[in-house]
Amino acid sequence: MKLKKTAASNSFNYIWLLRKIFPYIKPCLNRILINFLIALPLGLLDGVSAFAIKPYIDCAINENDFKFQIFGRNFVLTGLEITYILPIGIVLFATFQGILRYLNSYISSWTSRKITNNIKSDLYEQLIHMHPKFFDENSSGIIVSRYINDPNTASNGIIEQLKTMITSLFGSIGLIAVMLYSSAKLAIIGIFVLCAAFIPVLLLRKRIKDASNKNMIINGNIIGHINQTHGGNKVIASYSIQHKQKYDFNEEIQKAFNINMSLTKRTAWMSPLMHLIASFGIAIVLWYGTFLVNSNQITTGSFASFIASLLLLYKPVKTLGNTMTNMQKIFVALGRVFELFGLESEINEIKNPVTLSDLNHSIKFCNVVFEYDNNRPVLKNINLEIKKGETVAIVGSSGSGKSTLVNLLPRFYDIKSGSITIDDVDIRNITLNSLRNNIAMVFQDNFLFSKSIKENILLAKPDASDDELFLAIHSANLFDVISNLPDGIDTIISERGLTLSGGERQRIAIARAILKNAPIVILDEATSALDNKSEAMVQKAMANLMKDKTVFIIAHRLSTIQNADRIIVLEDGRIIETGCHNELTKVGNSRYRMLYEMQFQNIKTLSRNPLADEFTK
Ligand SMILES: Nc1ncnc2c1ncn2[C@@H]1O[C@H](COP(=O)(O)OP(=O)(O)OP(=O)(O)O)[C@@H](O)[C@H]1O
Ligand SMILES: [Mg+2]
Repeated sequence: MKLKKTAASNSFNYIWLLRKIFPYIKPCLNRILINFLIALPLGLLDGVSAFAIKPYIDCAINENDFKFQIFGRNFVLTGLEITYILPIGIVLFATFQGILRYLNSYISSWTSRKITNNIKSDLYEQLIHMHPKFFDENSSGIIVSRYINDPNTASNGIIEQLKTMITSLFGSIGLIAVMLYSSAKLAIIGIFVLCAAFIPVLLLRKRIKDASNKNMIINGNIIGHINQTHGGNKVIASYSIQHKQKYDFNEEIQKAFNINMSLTKRTAWMSPLMHLIASFGIAIVLWYGTFLVNSNQITTGSFASFIASLLLLYKPVKTLGNTMTNMQKIFVALGRVFELFGLESEINEIKNPVTLSDLNHSIKFCNVVFEYDNNRPVLKNINLEIKKGETVAIVGSSGSGKSTLVNLLPRFYDIKSGSITIDDVDIRNITLNSLRNNIAMVFQDNFLFSKSIKENILLAKPDASDDELFLAIHSANLFDVISNLPDGIDTIISERGLTLSGGERQRIAIARAILKNAPIVILDEATSALDNKSEAMVQKAMANLMKDKTVFIIAHRLSTIQNADRIIVLEDGRIIETGCHNELTKVGNSRYRMLYEMQFQNIKTLSRNPLADEFTK
């Protein structure tokens, strides 16, 4: 499920888009309607100023009376009265328009931000429930680009553009009405030219979509590049590859530049073309209008009013053109956003899942076959039964599938065939939450959140009492770490836990697992970053806590697992040996004995070195 591959195929399927966005618009419908009602007079008021020119020129300047009817009653204003009333009226109108404009901006900003937040929140909800393979397949950059940038572009823009569109549309309608009132003949020419000016906008859709999709991918790569600069800063520095990184970065931003320039090259002619068409319109109108005035078919005031409307019309029409182009960009982003909602986690629950409350008898792996990529099995026909309370160690060379095997139990990945059962219930029939609540995991590279140490440990059990927290910290041998930190247990860990040493991070993760107090414990190289002294202390504490627990332990350092009830040797995805330490070391040519002797040899070699004292302590 590569995000790069699903991009905006439904963007111009307006019904589909409307159906998708409607649930988000619905709660804000009142506000949106009010805003449209405000936009209506706001647009129309433009026409009022143009309309006022006619009586001003015909009556105030030429000193005629201005007669008009309101609800069937006749009114007369003298030229002098008009001279005072009209300018004051225009200022009052502008004030009124200003207030409406403020309200309009405020409400539209409120609604669009609310809609964006709701969409982002739902997208995030969907993202955190995605299966791990989704995160294996999609880079962090693409995820930021699709889950943050697209919704920003899409929903922030849509209401804003709709607001502008409505204001401009009503503005245009108001001005066109004034034009029609001033002179129908001239107005028809004007309207015809306007319609012609819009044709180019419709030709741009596909180009905008292609460019926007390419931009999304490149922006994702650029964000990914920055993320990698952050995460890999020491590797970059130690290999002095800053120039290579910069070269790659420049290549990406150059690609973005080229795409945008190519789009500009192909679309920037639209605005000048619209200007050109409009200038033809103005030229024809000027010529024909002069003729109509000279032949007394219309008054000078009407002509002035018409010209003012035509010139005022230019702005809303241009805005409408831009809005239509922007709307296409928004549709493309919206299409991509709503496609994300179509993605589903591959790790699903069945209809009526069972809740797992505890482990009572055993965990069984039956003919388990697993592959990350099709036709490349990583685990081949695994059969294994672990009794409650048993400690099973998994050893084997790097890449043999040890981590993969234990990752199947909390269903980070689903198996291809066979079954994994807990107390004879297939784990696929158990609720994901209850399954995972029964498993405490500690990994080699433990992720810590940029929160305080206390919060990181409490993730396992937010309502833990102080005594429980104290016990977990004590058992994980964390006190010396905490006492050296400025704010003790409330010290905030920097992003990805980088201000702590590897061993310190592992001990926090161990404390977290201890606090979780789950019946099944998985330790994947959990103590590899601890020195021998800390490991011995942590192991002693963990031994107490692992009592009566069912434990899977993966460790390269075989001294760690000698006391396991059973040791499983995994090679190339198959279990090749099973037995306890004594049984396996007795078999002359066992793989385990070979691994063990190799490590023992290393220790003997080291013991001729003064540092070995520290190592073997
Ligand atoms: N997320 C993944 N996507 C695709 N292949 C993977 C993934 N994780 C591991 N693999 C592959 O699966 C195989 C088993 O990996 P696994 O991590 O289980 O090995 P391991 O025995 O834990 O090794 P190590 O001792 O180095 O931790 C390897 O060939 C590895 O390349
Ligand atoms: Mg591993």
